[in-house]
Amino acid sequence: MKRFGKLSLLAVLALMMVVVAACGKKNETSPSPSASQAAAPASESPKASEPAPPADKKIVLGFAQVGAESGWRTANTKSIQESAAAAGIDLKFSDAQQKQENQIKAIRSYIQQKVDVIAFSPVVESGWDTVLKEAKDAGIPVILTDRAVDSKDTSLYRTFIGSDFVEEGRKAGQWLVEATKDAQGDVNIVQLEGTTGSAPANDRMAGFKEVIKDHPNLKIIASQTGDFTRAKGKEVMQAFLQAHKKIDVLYAHNDDMALGAIQAIEAAGLKPGVDIKIISVDGVHDGMQAASEGKINYIVECNPLLGPQLMDAVKDVLAGKEIPQRIVTKESAFTSEQAKEALPTRQY
Ligand code: AHR
Repeated sequence: MKRFGKLSLLAVLALMMVVVAACGKKNETSPSPSASQAAAPASESPKASEPAPPADKKIVLGFAQVGAESGWRTANTKSIQESAAAAGIDLKFSDAQQKQENQIKAIRSYIQQKVDVIAFSPVVESGWDTVLKEAKDAGIPVILTDRAVDSKDTSLYRTFIGSDFVEEGRKAGQWLVEATKDAQGDVNIVQLEGTTGSAPANDRMAGFKEVIKDHPNLKIIASQTGDFTRAKGKEVMQAFLQAHKKIDVLYAHNDDMALGAIQAIEAAGLKPGVDIKIISVDGVHDGMQAASEGKINYIVECNPLLGPQLMDAVKDVLAGKEIPQRIVTKESAFTSEQAKEALPTRQY
């Protein structure tokens, strides 16, 4: 009986140890909500309705860039990479090589990786609703930079930081109207358009036409895409020169296409800026150099240094701050004389 009593005491003790061990294990696999947040892997982000990441966690930004088609784009990429590093933001960067399907793939991969914020510069304006909805459903805020989308549902993105491309087109038109006010007869214009379907190509054309429409002697006799590249600008300008005897003005939607066209004009034995007046957009170093040499007559500035504004917006969005739906970049324009003055201090 005594022996039986000792045995049962041992059995009770053993049972208690098992119960205590089991409780301890349960606590390891079912943490409290706050412990789970602290232990979340670095790539995990809260849903939009959830609190911002803890202060000691590095923000992860997925950026889907258009490509490397122009000097402007190179400066824009550099600005984003340098500003992310300066702001202590972990930047995941992809180059879509000017293809919308590549950008959509990159955005989907950022959603899978659960980055904190997605930013991108859309190659073209249309066709984004589905993937933007996927990001919204995953609770990942999206910021547009440089180029807009034509989505009716503006809740699909938090803000759009970039230039007013219509205004850029208007500035180009206004300069031309002034420069040709004493012209006798028709002024024949050829236009090198940016990437077909892109916001800057659509808007720069719209703004330009809006201004010149009241001047019937200003005639666009040919217009074709040069895809924002130097090589295509040259190729299309060669074709324009072959097809048209009298070209008075070239309006190029960016400096790179204008620079390519200048090569074609010189190869045809003509003087760029004199025989054919040239207007372009951007104000990158090579464009400003050509302007200071009198080969480009007027450059409308488009500022690529969007990185600092983007990083501020990323932080504000994650901190739950209200930010404006549209942040417009401040820009100016340069005649040849002004380009000469501005060139030495130009950042890009
Ligand atoms: O979206 C901005 C435009 O894209 C720039 O004007 C052009 O150079 C670039 O490729």
